[in-house]
Amino acid sequence: MYIGEKVRLREYRKEDVPQALAYVNDPEVKRLLNPGIPYPLTLSDEEKWVAEQSASSQTYSFAIETLADGKYIGGCGVNSIDWKNSAVEVGIFIGDKSFWNQGYGTDAMRVLLRFIFEQMNINKVKLNVFSFNQRALRMYQKCGFKEEGRLRQELFRDGEYHDIILMGLLREEYQNT
Ligand SMILES: CC(C)(COP(=O)(O)OP(=O)(O)OC[C@H]1O[C@@H](n2cnc3c(N)ncnc32)[C@H](O)[C@@H]1OP(=O)(O)O)[C@@H](O)C(=O)NCCC(=O)NCCS
Repeated sequence: MYIGEKVRLREYRKEDVPQALAYVNDPEVKRLLNPGIPYPLTLSDEEKWVAEQSASSQTYSFAIETLADGKYIGGCGVNSIDWKNSAVEVGIFIGDKSFWNQGYGTDAMRVLLRFIFEQMNINKVKLNVFSFNQRALRMYQKCGFKEEGRLRQELFRDGEYHDIILMGLLREEYQNT
């Protein structure tokens, strides 16, 4: 539906559920996504989540598929919306690790940003990222995000504390890129 150079963002479908579950339960992906205790989701958790993603929900989630062959490789979306202050929080993952480092994440984020600024009419996009997630940090910088702050030792993961970095992108910065 929303198309970039390498990916298309489309609605989630029932048939995505088994692959989505495998992606989010992959320990390498999971450790980068959620600050909570890493613990596998169940099939019914994932079925429920996919069923809830509809135009009537308060968020906008997209499945990411490759333009080349329509392969479902991950997801991204708007996780929370503050209409009064015109700001949203976003998230993204490429679950198929064979697609990492080839520009798919950058392209998907650029398509999502276009959706947010040009369709939702939002002024600011925010996200947070774990300090050890260098790939994601680089990808966000490429998309124009700037570091706005650092929550020191906010995350306990793999036996030690890590910072969480807050990043933001303003409409005026997006328009100037
Ligand atoms: C983060 C993620 C969405 C990025 O997508 P991607 O398709 O792999 O990223 P891209 O290829 O578009 O860009 C990655 C950039 O990081 C760079 N990079 C990769 N590993 C790096 C490292 N260890 N240090 C610094 N830069 C690194 C790549 O070289 C590339 O930059 P370049 O184009 O200038 O060479 C994807 O890797 C992913 O889903 N990871 C797991 C989940 C996750 O971390 N989600 C984000 C949570 S905040």
